[in-house]
Amino acid sequence: MNNLSRILYISRASIGVGDDKFNKILYVFRKNNRERDITGILCGGGGHFIQVLEGPQAELFRLYGKILEDRRHYDSVVIGVAPIEERIFSDWAMGYMSSPGRLLGRFTNRSGCFSYHCFNA
Ligand SMILES: Cc1cc2nc3c(=O)[nH]c(=O)nc-3n(C[C@H](O)[C@H](O)[C@H](O)COP(=O)(O)O)c2cc1C
Repeated sequence: MNNLSRILYISRASIGVGDDKFNKILYVFRKNNRERDITGILCGGGGHFIQVLEGPQAELFRLYGKILEDRRHYDSVVIGVAPIEERIFSDWAMGYMSSPGRLLGRFTNRSGCFSYHCFNA
């Protein structure tokens, strides 16, 4: 066991995404994550955020606790959280994509249902 975990959540955005201001915020997230060995991807679109965070369990839960309190979004719902053997986003301190559907597709099976198999892989 390497003590790595992954969390996937969805929330409603209270800020705009994809503009200059947002890019500056993203820069800060990446800097923080590098320092804390957190990787993942953030997806903003259609008034929602979807984020996957991966890293050492204690750091991961500490960060998610902070994120929960962040007023830049609300109504956060955890879709999946699990210990993992390997990271999916090992090269990304925090990647960004604008299509929530594509990211969710990474964790669903052919019927479009959330798949633990995809999530734990
Ligand atoms: C949708 C969303 C995603 C976030 N993702 C990260 C992230 O990946 N890394 C990070 O450090 N902060 C992220 N934050 C910001 C945190 O909520 C928090 O402001 C940040 O960790 C700074 O905390 P600190 O300076 O008090 O330690 C995110 C916030 C929101 C609204």
